[in-house]
Amino acid sequence: MSISEKVQKSMTEGSWVRRMFDEGAILKQRYGAENVFDLSLGNPIMEPPAEFDRELRRLVEHPLPGMHRYMENAGYAETRAAVAEQLSLETGIEFTTHDIIMTCGAAGALNVVLKTILNPGDEVILFAPYFVEYINYIDNHGGVASVLPTDEQFLPKLDVLENTIGAKTKAVIINSPNNPTGVVYSADLLHLLGEVLQQKEAQYGTQIFLISDEAYRKIIYDGLRFPSPLHHHPRSIILTSHSKDLALPGERIGYIAVHPACSPPEELIDGLIFCNRTLGYVNAPALMQRLVRHLQSVTVSVAEYQRKRDLLYARLIEMGYSLIKPQGAFYMFPKSPLEDDIAFVKELQEFRVLTVPGRGFGTPGYFRISYCVDDRTIEGSLAGLGKAAQKNGLG
Ligand SMILES: Cc1ncc(COP(=O)(O)O)c(C=O)c1O
Repeated sequence: MSISEKVQKSMTEGSWVRRMFDEGAILKQRYGAENVFDLSLGNPIMEPPAEFDRELRRLVEHPLPGMHRYMENAGYAETRAAVAEQLSLETGIEFTTHDIIMTCGAAGALNVVLKTILNPGDEVILFAPYFVEYINYIDNHGGVASVLPTDEQFLPKLDVLENTIGAKTKAVIINSPNNPTGVVYSADLLHLLGEVLQQKEAQYGTQIFLISDEAYRKIIYDGLRFPSPLHHHPRSIILTSHSKDLALPGERIGYIAVHPACSPPEELIDGLIFCNRTLGYVNAPALMQRLVRHLQSVTVSVAEYQRKRDLLYARLIEMGYSLIKPQGAFYMFPKSPLEDDIAFVKELQEFRVLTVPGRGFGTPGYFRISYCVDDRTIEGSLAGLGKAAQKNGLG
C-alpha cells in the first residue's frame, strides 16, 4: 500500500459530506443537474459583496511595490490592526495587532492552534453534533478527541462537561452559530461554561483553552447580537474566516485572535506564529490580506439567508418534521423520521434531494440540510422532502 494505514482508514471512514457529494454527482449525471436538489454542501451560493470587487479593482489598478513577496508569518501588520480594531469594537475588549494572526481560513487556524497547544495524548473536548473535520485536526496534532452529547436543544450539558474534564484536558472547542444545528450559545450558557473551566483549572492546576470556532459569527438572525465567549474565559482563543461572511471559501483567508488577558500571551502567540510557518502555510494569502483589511465591517446579506431560513423552516414544520429553528449559520438539523438516518437520506436521494446523515456530525438520528443555495434549489427540494415526510407518516 502506498499510503499510510492511518490515512487509508480515515479516508474509508471518511466525510459523509464528501460521500454525499460523490453520490450526488452520479445522480446529477443520470437525471441532469437541474433535476437534483443539492442541500448537502456548505459552499455559499452568494457572491462576495460589492465592496470586495471594488477593493480588488483598486489593488489591480494601483499595485503596491512588493505586494507578492514573503511577509511576517503572522501576516501584514495593517491587516492585523484592522481585525483588532473591528474585534475591539464588537466585543468591547481591547485587541491589538499582536493578538491577531492571519491564517489560511478557519481550518488552517484550527490546525495552527491545536499544533501549538497539544502535547501527545492531551484531550480536546467537543460537543456533538460537531464539524466533522475537528476529529481529523485533533488527530493531526496527537490529541485525543472526547465527544460529549448535548441536550435536546443541542446545547452542552455542563454537568457532563464537569465530570469529563481531567488533568489531561487541554481545550474545549465550541462552535456558535453551529454547523450543523444553527444554534447560538447564550451569554448565560457561556458564563456557566467559563465557570466550569476555571473551577477545573483550579482543581488540576492546569490551563484549559476555550477554542471558539466563529466561522459563522456574522451570520446571525432575528437581530440577535453574537454572545462572545471572550467575556467568560480569559484563556479563550477565537478563530474565524471570511469563507462565509464574505463568501470567499476558495480564497482561504481567516484569523486567530488570542484573548489579551491570556497569560503569558507572548509565548502562546510566538508558538502560533511558529506553527503557522512550520505547518507549511507560511502566511495567509497576501492578496486576500490586502483586501479584507478594508472589509472588516462588511458582510454578505444576512437578510437573504434569513429569508431562505424562514422559507424552508416554515415548509418543513408544515410537513411535520421536528427541528429547532436555527438562529444563525445556514444549516438545519431536523430529526430523521427513520431511526436510521442513512436510510432516510437514501430515501431523500430517491426523491432527488441531497442531504447529509446526522452521523456524519457524530449524531445519528438526524440529517443536515444546507440552505446556502439558490431559491430554485430550495423550492425544487420541497416536493421530495414532502414525499419523504408522507412516506414516513409525518404531518
Ligand atoms: C464550523 C466550521 N468551522 C470551520 C470551517 C472551515 O472553514 P474555512 O473555509 O474557513 O476553513 C467550516 C467550513 O464549513 C465550518 O463549518
